[in-house]
Parts: sequence; C-alpha cells; structure tokens
Amino acid sequence: AYVVTDACIKCKYTDCVDVCPVDCFREGPNFLAIDPDECIDCALCVPECPVEAIYAEDDVPAGQEVFVALNAELSRTWPAITQKKAPLPDHAQWAAVKGKLPHLER
Ligand code: SF4
Ligand code: F3S
Repeated sequence: AYVVTDACIKCKYTDCVDVCPVDCFREGPNFLAIDPDECIDCALCVPECPVEAIYAEDDVPAGQEVFVALNAELSRTWPAITQKKAPLPDHAQWAAVKGKLPHLER
C-alpha cells in the first residue's frame, strides 16, 4: 500500500483524494491516512501532493517507517474523504517543517 508521511501533518492539501480510484483516503484533524486494505498501489496520488508526502510502503524515507503502522491504525477509525477541500489555514508555514509527528492530532 501507499503511505502518507510527515509532510502532510498540519498542511492537509487534499489534492491526493481527488485522484484515488478506490476512495481509500481517511481524514483526521490535521493529517490524512491511506487505508492499506483498500489501496491498490496505483500511485496516482503521489504526484498530486504539493509537499511529496506520499510514498510506497517499501519506499518510505528513513526515520518515517512509523507512518506505515500509523496509516493502518488511523484509517480504521477516521472517516473517508473523497473530495478536495481547502488546506489547513497555516499550511504555508508548516509545509517545509520536518518532524511534525508531535503535532499529529487524532
Ligand atoms: Fe489511492 Fe492509488 Fe494512492 Fe493507493 S496509490 S491511495 S489506490 S491513489
Ligand atoms: Fe496530505 Fe499531500 Fe494529500 S499534504 S492531504 S498527502 S495532497
């Protein structure tokens, strides 16, 4: 499955959800997760993300491996999101920040 990683936190641009053919994105307060049981590995979402937050499970950058389990866990309870909407208000100031996991809201 594909995995949403650190860069999405506090930005949540949502460009990714419009292209997913199986609607497997799930929405939390300041992050999206991909349901690994639904993702068909089409990779269409990868180039849509302005902050390059989405990776194949086997290709997640070093230090971000925790996001594989987090996507699986969070997608179990978060609701589906299937249409793009406005990013979070402070997206611009957070887009280039690294290590945002402490800011993840559930
Ligand atoms: Fe959806 Fe394809 Fe991205 Fe998986 S890889 S989340 S199926 S768009
Ligand atoms: Fe997040 Fe990128 Fe989608 S910031 S909401 S993974 S477009």
